Amino acid sequence: MKRVRKAVFPAAGLGTRFLPATKAQPKEMLPIVDKPIIQYGVEEALAAGCDQIIIITGRGKTAIEDHFDVSYELEKMLEERGKTELLSVVHQISDMIHVAYVRQKEALGLGHAVLMARELVGNEPFAVLLADDVIDAPVPCLKQMMDVYEETGGSVLATQKVSGPAISAYGVLDATLMDHARFGGRLYQVSNLVEKPKLEEAPSDLAIIGRYILTPAIFEMLEGTPLGAGGELQLTDGIRMLLSREKIYGYCFDGKRHDAGDKLGFLKATVEFALKRPGLGGEFRSYLKSLEL
Ligand code: G1P
Repeated sequence: MKRVRKAVFPAAGLGTRFLPATKAQPKEMLPIVDKPIIQYGVEEALAAGCDQIIIITGRGKTAIEDHFDVSYELEKMLEERGKTELLSVVHQISDMIHVAYVRQKEALGLGHAVLMARELVGNEPFAVLLADDVIDAPVPCLKQMMDVYEETGGSVLATQKVSGPAISAYGVLDATLMDHARFGGRLYQVSNLVEKPKLEEAPSDLAIIGRYILTPAIFEMLEGTPLGAGGELQLTDGIRMLLSREKIYGYCFDGKRHDAGDKLGFLKATVEFALKRPGLGGEFRSYLKSLEL
């Protein structure tokens, strides 16, 4: 079985939910405390064992490329001023990964974005991470999924229960909980999946969260997938087609997911990460307590 080495980050979206902040800046670069959203995802992919990052970008996204590149002037300045700690923070970012970029010329949907990575991924399993979903977990979410992949050999979708009408914002699984020695209670066998169903049409409360491990057969499926919800080529629809060929698993990961693509979710993530940050959390906690809410 081939190891999962490559992680794809679709990042061509326009970020309209964060206008005007995203007018001249990619939403993936909005910081939670002091780190851009996308870096949380990249660090997770590396921690899970991926060593190649593929970022699907579009117009106005060059800040992402600059972020993961060497900033010679900045490093020189920090060195001259003896700011060694900051220097290593900055240097680590460019040092950490091999990144390739593909431009998605038109925003035709998540499935289309993933299809853009076909040549770079080739014939091997790969991960997809949606940077908006920032996941705080004892074991990185993608690493948990890698363990499932290594044991099952099938595609693995991250899932979490979402109750009520909020389910309509997600891809939703029709799935059966498996009786599995190692992953029991968390592992599902998927029998169908639907993108953004109405509440009354949702097959379950199991929402797809933005972490996927996919076998390369998905590319062929996506090529033949008709446009779906919102007139876009949906990854969920491509994965449903893959079901006719391969087993697909849902994994209810251990961890807390923040929807950093949403204003309230972004604020919650900011508060929770700041509270946990050494050298910042204590004072921030006192400040929050002092607020008359
Ligand atoms: C995408 C997927 C959806 C998934 C969600 C997770 O939707 O299409 O299936 O549940 O990410 O965050 P988006 O949030 O991009 O509309």
